[in-house]
Amino acid sequence: MAETLDVVETVKQGYAFGGPAVELGALLVDGTPNTEAAVRIPLAMVNRHGLVAGATGTGKTKTLQLMAEQLSSAGVAVFAADIKGDLSGISQPGEESEKLLARTKTIGQEWTAAGFPTEFYALGGQGTGVPIRATITSFGPVLLSKVLGLNDVQESSLGLIFHYADKQGLTLLDLKDLRAVIQHLTSDEGKADLKDLGGLSAATAGVILRALIGFADQGADAFFGEPEFDTADVLQQRDGKGVISLLELPNLQDRPALFSTFLMWLLADLYHDLPEVGDVDKPKLVFFFDEAHLLFADASKAFLDSIAQTVRLIRSKGVGVFFVTQTPKDVPDDVLAQLGSRVQHQLRAHTPNDAKALKATVSTFPNSSYDLGEVLTQLGIGEAIVTVMNEKGAPTPVAWTRLRAPQSLMAPAPAEALAAAVAGSPNNAKYTEVVDRESAYEKLAAKVQAGAEQAEAEAQGQPAPAEPRPQAEKKEKSMVEQVVGSSAFKQFARSAGREIVRGLFGAARRRR
Ligand SMILES: Nc1ncnc2c1ncn2[C@@H]1O[C@H](COP(=O)(O)OP(=O)(O)OP(=O)(O)O)[C@@H](O)[C@H]1O
Ligand SMILES: [Mg+2]
Repeated sequence: MAETLDVVETVKQGYAFGGPAVELGALLVDGTPNTEAAVRIPLAMVNRHGLVAGATGTGKTKTLQLMAEQLSSAGVAVFAADIKGDLSGISQPGEESEKLLARTKTIGQEWTAAGFPTEFYALGGQGTGVPIRATITSFGPVLLSKVLGLNDVQESSLGLIFHYADKQGLTLLDLKDLRAVIQHLTSDEGKADLKDLGGLSAATAGVILRALIGFADQGADAFFGEPEFDTADVLQQRDGKGVISLLELPNLQDRPALFSTFLMWLLADLYHDLPEVGDVDKPKLVFFFDEAHLLFADASKAFLDSIAQTVRLIRSKGVGVFFVTQTPKDVPDDVLAQLGSRVQHQLRAHTPNDAKALKATVSTFPNSSYDLGEVLTQLGIGEAIVTVMNEKGAPTPVAWTRLRAPQSLMAPAPAEALAAAVAGSPNNAKYTEVVDRESAYEKLAAKVQAGAEQAEAEAQGQPAPAEPRPQAEKKEKSMVEQVVGSSAFKQFARSAGREIVRGLFGAARRRR
């Protein structure tokens, strides 16, 4: 009994910081909530990042939802991926039920139904949302390599290709631009340029080209191009509430790599654009990275280093990142070490692998009076083992917590509501229409045209041979091959332009 009192006292004191906080729930003692001992994260520490983990169906998404609601209410913008569509319910008031009210009453939560301002996005038009895109040049070689599944050698080769295109002023907006540049480098005429790019072999360039073609066939064409998503759009407020931007990903399994790299692009771009703010009363934006294991799986060393660096640096820009995944072991140690708050839902211990993951998870928690190996398998749904960063930056006591219930709908928003929200969004006019302005592909093609006209003029009135009408693909290749050999192209390539500044992940600085 004395020990029980100790837990209550320790948690009460450990979480008794002044100032606004994200309320997570109440301490559970022997299965009974203690409403005196509230478990919470200081709002000023939310940009010290966090992890929400647990087996499937244990309450991770609801935790994310209840946190996002409170952040929005505090005027903090939220970005989250909506992988199963169940987070879209955050835009609608929740449904009151006896069971729900029984839960909220025991933990001292005064529950009222509420919906929150939400914008829905989709990657290049997959899913219900305003379609968003990024250009190849701003995406950069590191992220693109991850998406294409390139190895280290191929990744550094792709870096050389970007460097070349940047220097030559060959703007890479969409996939066909990048293909045109690589085709140039692998053509007979481009070999001199290829040689100049020490370290890039024709064979590797060929591999990358084939990977790009496969990638386009999977529908990635729709994602790359303009208008490019203005990441400042995720920082909005509406009626004093932070806007919740949801990336709708109903077909995640089709393209997991594109999703996770896109989220890192977004973070890298925000990092470049946002001013340094140091310590903040509350974050500007909180970013929930669901299914985070997809990001780290099969990642190159360069990619993992970039993630760790981004997570480390973005905090001082007032952005908090919460990874959501099954176990902490999905997250590399140097990223995990930077996550100040931990909400660990139930873990299973059915298989030897489960047992190993459980043991590893326990080892990532600070010391406590709990036998975590036991407790983590006994947690109920919507319960978690929590430790966060207190207002002084020190870890709070480990607390078995029953979490609050979201005030918004705990199910997908009705399809009509979603469609109406998308149709009524101010972003629609901004992003829905694709723009295809002049870039590498068109420039190369134009040079072919110019070369042909010149030849025609030189031939002084001799009738030009009738041009056959090949398939688009063939035409593209032949035009590019013709153009690169022309002196006009070389002239153009030399005079073209300034170099692009590349930052985190090799993503390009925005040039608006
Ligand atoms: N905080 C909570 N309050 C009330 N009910 C909850 C809470 N957390 C979870 N639940 C209940 O448990 C169900 C599963 O939760 P949730 O969808 O968050 O699990 P999950 O860990 O995200 O699962 P998955 O890994 O399959 O995505 C919810 O539909 C809800 O009924
Ligand atoms: Mg979930």
